[in-house]
Amino acid sequence: MTAKFIVRGGNRLSGTVSIGGAKNSALPILTATALAVEGESILENVPDNSDIQHLCEILRALGCQVERVAETTVRVNARNLENHVAPYHIARRLRGSTYVMGLLLARLGRGEVACPGGCEIGARPVDFHLKGFKALGAEVVVEHGAMVAQRVNLRGGRFYVDRSSVGTTVNMIITASLAPGVTILENAACEPEIVDLANFINAMGGRVRGAGTNTVRIEGVDRLRGVRHEVIPDRIEAGTYMIMTAAAGGDVRIENVIPEHLGTVIAKLKEAGQEVEVQGDSVRVRSRPIRAVDVETQVYPGFPTDLQSPWVALMGLADGISVVQETIFENRFGFTNELIRMGANIKVDRNTGIIRGVERYTGAPVEARDIRGGAALVTAALAAEGVTEVAGVRYIDRGYTRMEEKLAALGADVKRVTVEEGP
Ligand code: UD1
Repeated sequence: MTAKFIVRGGNRLSGTVSIGGAKNSALPILTATALAVEGESILENVPDNSDIQHLCEILRALGCQVERVAETTVRVNARNLENHVAPYHIARRLRGSTYVMGLLLARLGRGEVACPGGCEIGARPVDFHLKGFKALGAEVVVEHGAMVAQRVNLRGGRFYVDRSSVGTTVNMIITASLAPGVTILENAACEPEIVDLANFINAMGGRVRGAGTNTVRIEGVDRLRGVRHEVIPDRIEAGTYMIMTAAAGGDVRIENVIPEHLGTVIAKLKEAGQEVEVQGDSVRVRSRPIRAVDVETQVYPGFPTDLQSPWVALMGLADGISVVQETIFENRFGFTNELIRMGANIKVDRNTGIIRGVERYTGAPVEARDIRGGAALVTAALAAEGVTEVAGVRYIDRGYTRMEEKLAALGADVKRVTVEEGP
Protein backbone atom coordinates (compact mmCIF):
# COMPACT_ATOMS: atom_id res chain seq x y z
CA MET A 1 0.00 0.00 0.00
CA THR A 2 1.18 3.48 -0.76
CA ALA A 3 -0.26 6.97 -0.31
CA LYS A 4 -1.09 9.75 -2.74
CA PHE A 5 -2.32 13.28 -2.30
CA ILE A 6 -5.24 14.34 -4.44
CA VAL A 7 -5.13 18.12 -4.73
CA ARG A 8 -7.82 20.20 -6.40
CA GLY A 9 -6.05 23.48 -7.01
CA GLY A 10 -7.37 27.00 -7.02
CA ASN A 11 -8.41 27.56 -3.40
CA ARG A 12 -6.83 30.52 -1.67
CA LEU A 13 -5.19 29.75 1.67
CA SER A 14 -6.28 31.60 4.77
CA GLY A 15 -5.98 31.25 8.53
CA THR A 16 -3.22 30.06 10.81
CA VAL A 17 -0.81 27.16 10.56
CA SER A 18 1.27 26.02 13.51
CA ILE A 19 4.82 24.86 12.83
CA GLY A 20 6.24 21.78 14.52
CA GLY A 21 9.69 21.08 15.88
CA ALA A 22 12.60 20.94 13.45
CA LYS A 23 13.23 17.49 12.02
CA ASN A 24 16.90 18.30 11.46
CA SER A 25 17.25 19.34 15.08
CA ALA A 26 15.19 16.53 16.55
CA LEU A 27 17.23 13.82 14.77
CA PRO A 28 20.58 14.80 16.31
CA ILE A 29 19.06 15.67 19.69
CA LEU A 30 17.17 12.38 19.92
CA THR A 31 20.42 10.59 19.11
CA ALA A 32 22.26 12.65 21.72
CA THR A 33 19.74 11.69 24.42
CA ALA A 34 21.32 8.25 24.25
CA LEU A 35 24.72 9.66 25.29
CA ALA A 36 23.33 9.84 28.84
CA VAL A 37 24.12 7.00 31.21
CA GLU A 38 21.98 8.42 33.99
CA GLY A 39 18.53 9.96 34.13
CA GLU A 40 16.05 10.24 31.30
CA SER A 41 15.52 12.95 28.74
CA ILE A 42 12.16 14.49 27.94
CA LEU A 43 12.11 16.16 24.54
CA GLU A 44 9.29 18.55 23.72
CA ASN A 45 8.23 19.73 20.27
CA VAL A 46 9.40 16.56 18.52
CA PRO A 47 7.70 16.23 15.12
CA ASP A 48 5.98 12.93 14.40
CA ASN A 49 7.29 12.27 10.90
CA SER A 50 8.59 8.98 9.58
CA ASP A 51 12.32 9.87 9.86
CA ILE A 52 11.85 10.46 13.59
CA GLN A 53 9.85 7.24 13.95
CA HIS A 54 12.64 5.29 12.29
CA LEU A 55 15.30 6.82 14.52
CA CYS A 56 13.22 5.91 17.60
CA GLU A 57 13.05 2.32 16.33
CA ILE A 58 16.83 2.22 15.93
CA LEU A 59 17.39 3.55 19.45
CA ARG A 60 14.99 0.95 20.85
CA ALA A 61 16.83 -1.81 19.01
CA LEU A 62 20.06 -0.63 20.66
CA GLY A 63 18.49 -1.08 24.07
CA CYS A 64 17.11 2.39 24.87
CA GLN A 65 13.63 2.94 26.21
CA VAL A 66 11.95 5.41 23.86
CA GLU A 67 8.35 6.40 24.30
CA ARG A 68 6.19 9.08 22.72
CA VAL A 69 4.33 10.12 25.86
CA ALA A 70 2.30 12.90 24.23
CA GLU A 71 1.71 14.11 20.69
CA THR A 72 4.99 16.04 20.55
CA THR A 73 6.81 14.71 23.63
CA VAL A 74 9.31 11.87 23.58
CA ARG A 75 10.94 10.31 26.65
CA VAL A 76 14.24 8.45 26.38
CA ASN A 77 16.09 6.40 28.94
CA ALA A 78 19.40 5.19 27.54
CA ARG A 79 20.94 3.51 30.56
CA ASN A 80 20.63 0.05 28.98
CA LEU A 81 22.10 0.90 25.60
CA GLU A 82 24.16 -2.24 25.03
CA ASN A 83 23.72 -3.38 21.46
CA HIS A 84 26.28 -1.94 19.04
CA VAL A 85 24.51 -2.99 15.83
CA ALA A 86 21.78 -0.79 14.36
CA PRO A 87 19.15 -2.74 12.39
CA TYR A 88 20.35 -2.53 8.80
CA HIS A 89 17.03 -2.10 7.03
CA ILE A 90 15.90 0.81 9.18
CA ALA A 91 19.25 2.59 9.37
CA ARG A 92 19.73 2.62 5.61
CA ARG A 93 16.48 4.51 5.18
CA LEU A 94 17.46 7.82 6.73
CA ARG A 95 20.42 10.13 6.43
CA GLY A 96 20.26 10.96 10.12
CA SER A 97 21.27 7.41 11.04
CA THR A 98 24.94 8.36 10.49
CA TYR A 99 24.64 10.09 13.87
CA VAL A 100 23.95 6.72 15.45
CA MET A 101 27.48 5.70 14.48
CA GLY A 102 28.88 8.69 16.41
CA LEU A 103 26.70 7.80 19.36
CA LEU A 104 27.83 4.16 19.41
CA LEU A 105 31.51 5.13 19.21
CA ALA A 106 31.04 7.54 22.11
CA ARG A 107 29.01 5.16 24.27
CA LEU A 108 30.34 1.69 23.43
CA GLY A 109 33.59 2.25 21.52
CA ARG A 110 32.32 0.18 18.62
CA GLY A 111 29.40 0.13 16.24
CA GLU A 112 27.83 -1.11 13.05
CA VAL A 113 25.37 1.10 11.17
CA ALA A 114 24.15 0.79 7.58
CA CYS A 115 25.33 3.50 5.21
CA PRO A 116 22.41 5.84 4.76
CA GLY A 117 20.24 6.09 1.69
CA GLY A 118 18.04 9.10 2.27
CA CYS A 119 16.56 11.01 -0.65
CA GLU A 120 17.43 10.96 -4.31
CA ILE A 121 19.09 14.36 -4.37
CA GLY A 122 22.70 13.40 -4.93
CA ALA A 123 25.30 10.87 -3.94
CA ARG A 124 25.20 11.78 -0.23
CA PRO A 125 28.42 10.03 0.70
CA VAL A 126 29.75 9.58 4.26
CA ASP A 127 33.45 10.23 3.59
CA PHE A 128 33.54 13.44 5.67
CA HIS A 129 32.01 11.59 8.62
CA LEU A 130 34.59 8.80 8.36
CA LYS A 131 37.44 11.34 8.21
CA GLY A 132 35.98 13.04 11.26
CA PHE A 133 35.82 9.79 13.25
CA LYS A 134 39.43 9.15 12.31
CA ALA A 135 40.46 12.56 13.64
CA LEU A 136 38.99 11.43 16.97
CA GLY A 137 40.96 8.19 16.93
CA ALA A 138 38.27 5.91 15.51
CA GLU A 139 38.98 3.78 12.46
CA VAL A 140 35.61 3.24 10.78
CA VAL A 141 35.48 1.16 7.60
CA VAL A 142 32.66 0.48 5.16
CA GLU A 143 31.96 -3.25 4.85
CA HIS A 144 28.94 -5.02 3.36
CA GLY A 145 27.01 -1.76 3.11
CA ALA A 146 27.60 -0.66 6.69
CA MET A 147 29.99 1.55 8.65
CA VAL A 148 31.85 -0.69 11.07
CA ALA A 149 34.19 0.06 13.95
CA GLN A 150 35.67 -2.20 16.64
CA ARG A 151 37.49 -1.41 19.88
CA VAL A 152 37.90 2.30 19.46
CA ASN A 153 39.70 4.56 21.89
CA LEU A 154 38.34 8.01 21.30
CA ARG A 155 40.28 11.15 22.06
CA GLY A 156 39.79 14.81 21.17
CA GLY A 157 41.31 16.14 17.97
CA ARG A 158 41.36 19.02 15.52
CA PHE A 159 39.20 18.66 12.42
CA TYR A 160 38.41 20.81 9.40
CA VAL A 161 34.81 20.20 8.27
CA ASP A 162 34.74 20.08 4.47
CA ARG A 163 32.00 22.18 2.87
CA SER A 164 30.75 23.14 6.34
CA SER A 165 28.79 19.88 6.26
CA VAL A 166 25.84 19.96 8.66
CA GLY A 167 25.76 16.23 9.30
CA THR A 168 29.50 15.98 9.87
CA THR A 169 29.43 18.88 12.33
CA VAL A 170 26.58 17.20 14.22
CA ASN A 171 28.34 13.88 14.29
CA MET A 172 31.59 15.35 15.54
CA ILE A 173 29.82 17.19 18.35
CA ILE A 174 27.98 14.03 19.42
CA THR A 175 31.11 11.85 19.29
CA ALA A 176 33.49 14.38 20.85
CA SER A 177 31.17 15.09 23.79
CA LEU A 178 32.35 11.91 25.50
CA ALA A 179 35.85 11.75 23.96
CA PRO A 180 38.63 12.55 26.45
CA GLY A 181 40.40 15.82 25.63
CA VAL A 182 39.49 18.82 23.51
CA THR A 183 38.13 18.75 19.97
CA ILE A 184 38.25 21.79 17.73
CA LEU A 185 36.07 21.89 14.63
CA GLU A 186 37.05 24.38 11.96
CA ASN A 187 34.76 25.45 9.13
CA ALA A 188 31.88 23.98 11.15
CA ALA A 189 28.26 24.38 10.02
CA CYS A 190 26.47 27.35 11.66
CA GLU A 191 22.87 26.19 11.18
CA PRO A 192 20.44 26.85 14.07
CA GLU A 193 20.03 23.09 14.44
CA ILE A 194 23.71 22.89 15.48
CA VAL A 195 23.12 25.50 18.17
CA ASP A 196 20.08 23.58 19.41
CA LEU A 197 22.12 20.38 19.68
CA ALA A 198 24.93 22.18 21.53
CA ASN A 199 22.44 23.73 23.97
CA PHE A 200 21.01 20.30 24.65
CA ILE A 201 24.37 18.63 25.23
CA ASN A 202 25.46 21.50 27.48
CA ALA A 203 22.30 21.09 29.54
CA MET A 204 23.20 17.40 29.88
CA GLY A 205 26.52 18.44 31.43
CA GLY A 206 28.59 18.66 28.25
CA ARG A 207 31.01 21.40 27.23
CA VAL A 208 30.36 22.64 23.70
CA ARG A 209 31.39 26.21 22.91
CA GLY A 210 31.10 28.33 19.78
CA ALA A 211 28.12 26.55 18.18
CA GLY A 212 26.61 28.91 15.60
CA THR A 213 30.08 30.09 14.53
CA ASN A 214 32.60 28.38 12.25
CA THR A 215 34.76 27.23 15.14
CA VAL A 216 33.32 24.85 17.68
CA ARG A 217 35.26 23.66 20.71
CA ILE A 218 34.14 20.51 22.50
CA GLU A 219 35.67 19.37 25.75
CA GLY A 220 34.89 15.73 26.36
CA VAL A 221 33.27 14.91 29.70
CA ASP A 222 33.10 11.60 31.61
CA ARG A 223 29.34 11.30 31.64
CA LEU A 224 26.19 13.08 30.58
CA ARG A 225 22.77 12.93 32.21
CA GLY A 226 19.25 13.11 30.77
CA VAL A 227 17.45 16.48 30.76
CA ARG A 228 14.31 18.17 29.48
CA HIS A 229 14.62 20.17 26.26
CA GLU A 230 12.34 21.82 23.72
CA VAL A 231 13.34 21.40 20.08
CA ILE A 232 13.42 24.61 17.99
CA PRO A 233 10.70 25.19 15.38
CA ASP A 234 11.23 23.84 11.88
CA ARG A 235 12.36 26.76 9.71
CA ILE A 236 12.02 24.63 6.58
CA GLU A 237 8.43 23.63 7.32
CA ALA A 238 7.68 27.31 8.05
CA GLY A 239 9.35 28.46 4.83
CA THR A 240 7.41 25.85 2.87
CA TYR A 241 4.02 27.16 4.09
CA MET A 242 5.16 30.74 3.42
CA ILE A 243 6.04 29.87 -0.16
CA MET A 244 2.84 27.83 -0.60
CA THR A 245 0.79 30.85 0.48
CA ALA A 246 2.51 33.04 -2.08
CA ALA A 247 1.99 30.44 -4.82
CA ALA A 248 -1.62 29.51 -4.08
CA GLY A 249 -2.63 33.04 -3.11
CA GLY A 250 -4.00 33.94 0.29
CA ASP A 251 -3.34 35.38 3.72
CA VAL A 252 -1.77 33.02 6.26
CA ARG A 253 -0.22 33.42 9.67
CA ILE A 254 2.56 30.92 10.23
CA GLU A 255 2.94 30.59 13.98
CA ASN A 256 5.42 29.07 16.42
CA VAL A 257 8.48 30.10 14.43
CA ILE A 258 11.74 31.89 15.22
CA PRO A 259 11.60 34.68 12.62
CA GLU A 260 15.38 35.28 12.85
CA HIS A 261 15.88 31.80 11.38
CA LEU A 262 13.80 32.80 8.36
CA GLY A 263 15.64 36.02 7.45
CA THR A 264 16.67 35.07 3.91
CA VAL A 265 13.32 33.52 3.02
CA ILE A 266 11.47 36.59 4.26
CA ALA A 267 13.80 38.88 2.28
CA LYS A 268 13.41 36.83 -0.89
CA LEU A 269 9.62 36.63 -0.60
CA LYS A 270 9.47 40.40 -0.18
CA GLU A 271 11.72 40.82 -3.20
CA ALA A 272 9.24 38.62 -5.05
CA GLY A 273 6.54 41.17 -4.24
CA GLN A 274 4.86 39.38 -1.33
CA GLU A 275 3.74 41.11 1.83
CA VAL A 276 5.50 39.53 4.79
CA GLU A 277 5.18 40.79 8.31
CA VAL A 278 6.83 39.46 11.45
CA GLN A 279 4.53 39.49 14.48
CA GLY A 280 6.29 38.12 17.59
CA ASP A 281 6.80 34.42 16.98
CA SER A 282 4.60 34.44 13.87
CA VAL A 283 5.05 35.50 10.29
CA ARG A 284 2.09 36.67 8.22
CA VAL A 285 2.23 36.24 4.46
CA ARG A 286 -0.20 38.02 2.17
CA SER A 287 0.10 37.07 -1.47
CA ARG A 288 0.62 39.59 -4.23
CA PRO A 289 1.51 39.19 -7.92
CA ILE A 290 4.74 37.18 -8.06
CA ARG A 291 7.89 38.81 -9.36
CA ALA A 292 10.81 36.75 -10.65
CA VAL A 293 13.72 36.62 -8.21
CA ASP A 294 17.06 34.82 -8.58
CA VAL A 295 18.23 32.62 -5.72
CA GLU A 296 21.45 30.80 -4.94
CA THR A 297 21.40 28.19 -2.19
CA GLN A 298 24.00 28.67 0.51
CA VAL A 299 24.86 27.37 3.94
CA TYR A 300 23.12 29.19 6.80
CA PRO A 301 22.28 32.07 6.94
CA GLY A 302 22.00 31.91 3.14
CA PHE A 303 18.97 30.61 1.26
CA PRO A 304 18.45 26.99 2.42
CA THR A 305 18.86 24.24 -0.15
CA ASP A 306 15.83 22.58 1.46
CA LEU A 307 13.60 25.42 0.21
CA GLN A 308 15.06 25.50 -3.28
CA SER A 309 12.43 23.14 -4.72
CA PRO A 310 9.33 24.96 -3.37
CA TRP A 311 10.96 28.22 -4.49
CA VAL A 312 11.30 26.91 -8.05
CA ALA A 313 7.60 25.95 -8.00
CA LEU A 314 6.78 29.52 -6.95
CA MET A 315 9.05 31.09 -9.56
CA GLY A 316 7.35 28.97 -12.19
CA LEU A 317 4.35 31.28 -11.74
CA ALA A 318 6.31 34.55 -11.59
CA ASP A 319 6.15 37.41 -14.00
CA GLY A 320 9.53 37.04 -15.69
CA ILE A 321 12.56 34.79 -15.76
CA SER A 322 14.48 33.68 -12.70
CA VAL A 323 17.71 31.77 -12.25
CA VAL A 324 18.05 29.37 -9.33
CA GLN A 325 21.47 27.96 -8.52
CA GLU A 326 21.93 24.93 -6.32
CA THR A 327 25.35 24.91 -4.69
CA ILE A 328 24.93 22.29 -1.95
CA PHE A 329 23.64 19.12 -3.65
CA GLU A 330 24.55 18.12 -7.19
CA ASN A 331 21.26 16.56 -8.19
CA ARG A 332 18.44 18.54 -6.70
CA PHE A 333 16.43 19.47 -9.78
CA GLY A 334 14.90 16.06 -10.50
CA PHE A 335 11.46 17.26 -9.42
CA THR A 336 11.42 19.83 -12.24
CA ASN A 337 10.58 17.07 -14.75
CA GLU A 338 7.34 16.57 -12.84
CA LEU A 339 6.69 20.33 -12.63
CA ILE A 340 7.10 20.50 -16.40
CA ARG A 341 4.22 18.00 -16.72
CA MET A 342 2.12 20.59 -14.95
CA GLY A 343 3.03 23.23 -17.52
CA ALA A 344 6.16 24.77 -15.99
CA ASN A 345 8.77 26.20 -18.33
CA ILE A 346 12.09 25.21 -16.77
CA LYS A 347 15.47 24.47 -18.27
CA VAL A 348 18.08 22.82 -16.08
CA ASP A 349 21.77 22.99 -16.86
CA ARG A 350 23.75 21.07 -14.27
CA ASN A 351 23.20 22.98 -11.01
CA THR A 352 21.29 25.90 -12.51
CA GLY A 353 17.57 26.14 -13.19
CA ILE A 354 16.26 28.79 -15.57
CA ILE A 355 12.59 29.35 -14.94
CA ARG A 356 10.34 31.27 -17.28
CA GLY A 357 7.13 32.07 -15.43
CA VAL A 358 3.87 30.76 -16.89
CA GLU A 359 0.36 32.08 -16.31
CA ARG A 360 -0.85 28.90 -14.64
CA TYR A 361 -0.10 25.26 -13.93
CA THR A 362 -2.54 22.50 -14.85
CA GLY A 363 -3.14 19.44 -12.68
CA ALA A 364 -1.48 16.17 -13.69
CA PRO A 365 -0.41 12.86 -12.12
CA VAL A 366 3.09 13.47 -10.73
CA GLU A 367 5.47 11.68 -8.41
CA ALA A 368 7.64 12.89 -5.52
CA ARG A 369 11.11 11.36 -5.17
CA ASP A 370 12.45 13.40 -2.29
CA ILE A 371 11.00 15.33 0.64
CA ARG A 372 11.38 18.87 -0.66
CA GLY A 373 10.72 18.02 -4.30
CA GLY A 374 7.46 16.55 -3.00
CA ALA A 375 6.68 19.81 -1.20
CA ALA A 376 7.33 21.65 -4.45
CA LEU A 377 4.83 19.48 -6.31
CA VAL A 378 2.19 20.16 -3.66
CA THR A 379 3.00 23.89 -3.89
CA ALA A 380 2.36 23.78 -7.63
CA ALA A 381 -0.75 21.62 -7.18
CA LEU A 382 -2.34 24.13 -4.81
CA ALA A 383 -2.04 26.81 -7.49
CA ALA A 384 -2.90 24.59 -10.46
CA GLU A 385 -6.08 24.47 -12.46
CA GLY A 386 -7.80 21.11 -11.92
CA VAL A 387 -6.71 18.03 -10.05
CA THR A 388 -3.13 16.91 -9.34
CA GLU A 389 -2.32 13.46 -8.02
CA VAL A 390 0.94 13.53 -6.11
CA ALA A 391 2.35 10.02 -5.69
CA GLY A 392 5.34 9.23 -3.47
CA VAL A 393 3.78 10.82 -0.39
CA ARG A 394 6.03 8.64 1.77
CA TYR A 395 8.85 11.05 0.92
CA ILE A 396 6.79 14.05 2.00
CA ASP A 397 5.91 12.22 5.22
CA ARG A 398 9.59 11.94 6.08
CA GLY A 399 9.83 15.67 6.68
CA TYR A 400 6.33 17.08 7.14
CA THR A 401 3.83 16.11 9.80
CA ARG A 402 0.35 15.64 8.31
CA MET A 403 0.82 18.21 5.58
CA GLU A 404 -2.59 17.44 4.05
CA GLU A 405 -4.37 18.23 7.34
CA LYS A 406 -2.52 21.50 7.82
CA LEU A 407 -3.32 22.57 4.26
CA ALA A 408 -6.96 21.50 4.51
CA ALA A 409 -7.31 23.62 7.66
CA LEU A 410 -6.14 26.59 5.57
CA GLY A 411 -8.91 25.93 3.03
CA ALA A 412 -7.03 23.85 0.47
CA ASP A 413 -8.70 20.86 -1.16
CA VAL A 414 -6.17 18.11 -0.36
CA LYS A 415 -6.92 14.51 0.45
CA ARG A 416 -4.72 11.55 1.28
CA VAL A 417 -5.70 8.33 -0.41
CA THR A 418 -4.15 4.93 0.04
CA VAL A 419 -3.65 2.89 -3.09
CA GLU A 420 -2.30 -0.51 -4.09
CA GLU A 421 1.38 -0.48 -5.00
CA GLY A 422 1.71 -0.16 -8.83
CA PRO A 423 3.81 -2.47 -11.02
C1 UD1 B 1 21.57 18.16 6.21
C2 UD1 B 1 20.07 18.14 6.30
C3 UD1 B 1 19.46 18.41 4.94
C4 UD1 B 1 20.02 19.68 4.35
C5 UD1 B 1 21.54 19.69 4.38
C6 UD1 B 1 22.14 21.01 3.94
C7 UD1 B 1 19.66 16.59 8.09
C8 UD1 B 1 19.19 15.24 8.52
N1 UD1 B 1 19.67 16.83 6.80
O1 UD1 B 1 21.96 17.10 5.35
O2 UD1 B 1 18.05 18.52 5.11
O3 UD1 B 1 19.60 19.79 3.00
O4 UD1 B 1 22.02 19.41 5.69
O5 UD1 B 1 21.64 22.05 4.72
O6 UD1 B 1 19.99 17.43 8.91
N2 UD1 B 1 28.98 15.54 1.71
C9 UD1 B 1 30.01 14.71 1.28
N3 UD1 B 1 30.48 13.77 2.16
C10 UD1 B 1 29.98 13.62 3.42
C11 UD1 B 1 28.93 14.48 3.85
C12 UD1 B 1 28.46 15.43 2.97
O7 UD1 B 1 30.47 14.81 0.14
O8 UD1 B 1 30.45 12.74 4.15
C13 UD1 B 1 28.47 16.58 0.77
C14 UD1 B 1 26.99 16.37 0.46
O9 UD1 B 1 26.82 15.45 -0.60
C15 UD1 B 1 26.57 17.77 0.09
C16 UD1 B 1 27.43 18.66 1.01
O10 UD1 B 1 28.51 17.83 1.43
O11 UD1 B 1 26.89 18.04 -1.26
C17 UD1 B 1 26.72 19.18 2.26
O12 UD1 B 1 26.02 18.12 2.89
P1 UD1 B 1 25.65 18.14 4.46
O13 UD1 B 1 25.67 19.54 4.94
O14 UD1 B 1 26.48 17.14 5.14
O15 UD1 B 1 24.14 17.65 4.41
P2 UD1 B 1 23.47 16.59 5.37
O16 UD1 B 1 24.00 16.71 6.74
O17 UD1 B 1 23.47 15.26 4.70
